Amino acid sequence: MQKNWKRYTVTSALPYANGPIHIGHLAGVYIPADIYVRYLRIKGKDVIFICGSDEHGVPITIKALQEKVTPQQIVDRYHAMIKKSFEDFGISFDIYSRTTNKVHYETASQFFKTLYNKGIFIEKTTEQYYDTELNQFLADRYIVGTCPHCGNEKAYGDQCEKCGTSLNPTDLINPRSAISGSELVLKETKHWFLPLDKFESALRKWILEEHTEWKSNVYGQCKSWLDMGLQPRAVSRDLEWGVPVPVEGAQGKVLYVWFDAPIGYISATKELSSDWEKYWKDKDTCLIHFIGKDNIVFHCIVFPAMLMAEGSYILPENVPANEFLNLEGDKISTSRNWAVWLHEYLQEFPGKQDVLRYVLTANMPETKDNDFTWKDFQTRNNSELVAILGNFVNRTLVLTHKYFNGSVPLCQDIKQEEFEMLNEIAQIKSNIELNIETFKFRDALKEYMNIARLGNKYLTETEPWKLINKDIERTKAIIAICLEITGTLAILGQPFLPFTSEKLYKMLNLENITWDDVGKKPIFKAGHVVNKAELLFDKIEDSVIEYQINKLKASKQNFQNNYVQLKNNISYDEFAKMDVRIATITHAEKVPKTDNLLKITVDLGFEQRIVVSGVAHCYKPEELIGKQVCLLANLEPRKIKGIESKGMILFVENGEQLVALSPINSVKNGSVVK
Ligand code: MF3
Ligand code: ZN
Repeated sequence: MQKNWKRYTVTSALPYANGPIHIGHLAGVYIPADIYVRYLRIKGKDVIFICGSDEHGVPITIKALQEKVTPQQIVDRYHAMIKKSFEDFGISFDIYSRTTNKVHYETASQFFKTLYNKGIFIEKTTEQYYDTELNQFLADRYIVGTCPHCGNEKAYGDQCEKCGTSLNPTDLINPRSAISGSELVLKETKHWFLPLDKFESALRKWILEEHTEWKSNVYGQCKSWLDMGLQPRAVSRDLEWGVPVPVEGAQGKVLYVWFDAPIGYISATKELSSDWEKYWKDKDTCLIHFIGKDNIVFHCIVFPAMLMAEGSYILPENVPANEFLNLEGDKISTSRNWAVWLHEYLQEFPGKQDVLRYVLTANMPETKDNDFTWKDFQTRNNSELVAILGNFVNRTLVLTHKYFNGSVPLCQDIKQEEFEMLNEIAQIKSNIELNIETFKFRDALKEYMNIARLGNKYLTETEPWKLINKDIERTKAIIAICLEITGTLAILGQPFLPFTSEKLYKMLNLENITWDDVGKKPIFKAGHVVNKAELLFDKIEDSVIEYQINKLKASKQNFQNNYVQLKNNISYDEFAKMDVRIATITHAEKVPKTDNLLKITVDLGFEQRIVVSGVAHCYKPEELIGKQVCLLANLEPRKIKGIESKGMILFVENGEQLVALSPINSVKNGSVVK
């Protein structure tokens, strides 16, 4: 490390709580941050790793409007989902907080007040478009109209996507609300502006002169912003949803989401530790923000200007932003469902967290946009993880058991070339360190795999299976050296492949040996016993990949015609096998320790039944009681979370919502649906 920092504060962008996490988020932000933090921890550094949900902003309110629920319900749903998928995937945050909690409201208000009392803000009244049907001012994105440059009738208030011109809402001809469709009126409104222009020269000096080491994509974007000249930016909005502007005369106004969200890093640290100040205010703390490229200006210009204005905080030491990851040649898109969703991956590939980590690190969009394809995923698994890493470890352990009953042999007869190979591995270790410290995670991973490559080559060339009956001393040396390499792979793999490393530690009975020992002293003593080889990776078959590719194709199809494709015809007999009945819900409660499950009791007239349904995100238990629903009564009973579920209540899919089906007129329970 260039400087001997006392401690590290590492943040990763707070994801918006209006959708699940996908591979683009992972490759861009969370995997690089996690590798970096795991490495710092292994090196014994004092480090905190901060994240949480970004729960404000207009898109969340629109989603709530569309689904007829409150914004709080939207963020509750996604916060829980995102938090869980990060945990299951092994992203090792010290805290995953959220911006709707109390500490954050207090911290963000206080921050605004401090700046307000220092007289930093400019108060300005301007005219803005108002939607008289929704009774609210509209964000630029939600105003549509005709582009004055190219005549495109669907231009947005901030940009025409046809000709690329950036626009102001007042430039649009015939502006309308994109939400309600109604015409708009101009209305006066007062806002608080952060005068970025006043911080321009300080930002110039800090970034352009003192941080020439920043990644060129980050430095370049900052330079072009600074060269264009900075303007004051409004930090408040006319909205109901957000942190209220904490001054008199600010009714109906909240802090702009990009003002409150980065303060979320600070609030989360407060929540984590009463000793939070040293992580944000001590000059010997190294602050690092991991983000995607669309966040650069907020983390390099706006937030630092806020911190400078406040006066008592440190500035980030580095902002290693990545470019974007595409999927099968196309931009990842939530609305088009063109994504690989983390929660689905975790379900469909249980125990394979490290495979995705590996592939996304190997393809990380560090310097340019990159592409994820399922074919590449398969190839990297089969011909790298299985054929190189897994194979080497497996051969080594099998031979150790076959020849030495699992005990590490004494190595006495070591050759010059072998010394050289071990030195090369020590050199690789320092390359890995340097690469991680300079945010070159792809190169770091490549170096790591080179160790396994060396090991395989060594084993193939020395052929101990031909020596075991001729030259026991050489065989001992070779196996001992292979075990050293395997131990090295376990230790150095921790930042990249944490689940695999953990398995390796157990297989090798590794204890009391640290990262820093690698290359300095032997990992094993003769006589140390290792366990039998366990499978680290297994081959992924073509059918698995085809399934994923078809799933993506289907989502493209569905988006294009917006309907789910019809299934193949069935005969009447097949239909008649289903016994669907009307039943009344008499009781419902959440299944403990699950996010989504309700335990529902239904009355079928002739019988009471218990059914488990995954609809807690759509219905509160009390909303269901007394409702008549359709029950597929002869579905094979199934145990769900220890509860015997007898049948299935039928729901209609409505986007991500599920809606229960009821008869139009009330009927006798137990009646047949046909
Ligand atoms: N929610 C933003 C996004 O997903 C990132 C917020 S980062 C923070 O693009 F700095 F505001 F926290
Ligand atoms: Zn245009």
